[in-house]
Amino acid sequence: MTTGVDAAIAASYVEFADREARGVSPAYERLARSVARDGRLHALLGTVPEAKRQPNLLFAVVRLLGGPVEDPAAFGEFAAAHWPEVAAQLRTRATQTNEAGRCAALLPVLAALPQPLALLEVGASAGLCLYPDRYAYRYGDHRVGSGEPVLDCALTGAAPPNRRPVVAWRAGLDLNPLDVTDPADVAWLDALVWPEQAHRRARLRAASAVAAADPPLLVRGDLVDDLPALAARAPAGATLVVFHTSVLYLVPAPRRAAFADLVRTLPGHWLANETPEVLGHDALPEPPDGTLHNVLTLDGTPLAWTRPHGQAVTWFA
Ligand SMILES: C[S@@+](CC[C@H](N)C(=O)[O-])C[C@H]1O[C@@H](n2cnc3c(N)ncnc32)[C@H](O)[C@@H]1O
Repeated sequence: MTTGVDAAIAASYVEFADREARGVSPAYERLARSVARDGRLHALLGTVPEAKRQPNLLFAVVRLLGGPVEDPAAFGEFAAAHWPEVAAQLRTRATQTNEAGRCAALLPVLAALPQPLALLEVGASAGLCLYPDRYAYRYGDHRVGSGEPVLDCALTGAAPPNRRPVVAWRAGLDLNPLDVTDPADVAWLDALVWPEQAHRRARLRAASAVAAADPPLLVRGDLVDDLPALAARAPAGATLVVFHTSVLYLVPAPRRAAFADLVRTLPGHWLANETPEVLGHDALPEPPDGTLHNVLTLDGTPLAWTRPHGQAVTWFA
């Protein structure tokens, strides 16, 4: 088995360290920089499909299997020694991080639409973003709603919303829906939360409890092929909102284009919270800083930069 460094794998781990982990997760930044140099792990990762070699997936699988993520050398030893189990999990699992915090980025738009809403989320994972009416929010000193979890968001350039939406119907579509009432699926969602992020783990627990108390309608299916049939189930008299957050980067470009064409033919609104590349916007203002940002768009019109977990929203001037 070759132990040479694979340039593409190395580059993807360095990019993850620089763009995603730096300043957020010291443990994952250390791991990513170490894996980037580890030819033995590159050879092992080369045995699984390219889409299964990503840092987030590898690190979460090792955590799910009880492996160490604080010490890069121990991580490498564990991954190599347990490779058959690691590879099996890499092949069956996917990065399906479900972040209820993203509802804080969606709320300013959802609250301003004609109520009640029929929410249809594509790429819903376990459906935790389908409960924007049940979570509490804190935009600086401005609170909206009560209860748990409380979603904190630094909002600039727009007034914070004054209400939560009224949701008449909620449904999700996903290639592989996760079940918040299944301990194995909840364990996987937990493993996807980065090691130091105790606040996100607490938020996941609280949001899972909200969803488990009234589980969402989740349909297994593709966001192009199966969207019309699910949208047709939305009740009349509610504003249909088809939305998605951090999904389209997983979808091949021709399918993204097919989805964008299809969603525009449906009644109601289309709300997207995605990385800037995936919808090909013509011109966007400079992002607030060099970290990863999503773009919030309504019916194809870009409105704001959002941080990946909903922790900040910067409205365009
Ligand atoms: C990174 S997760 C994001 C989950 C959720 N939207 C959130 O923001 O917390 C992306 C989800 O999109 C789903 N997905 C990817 N491609 C899809 C497709 N073609 N059709 C439906 N769901 C898809 C994945 O299975 C995964 O659950």
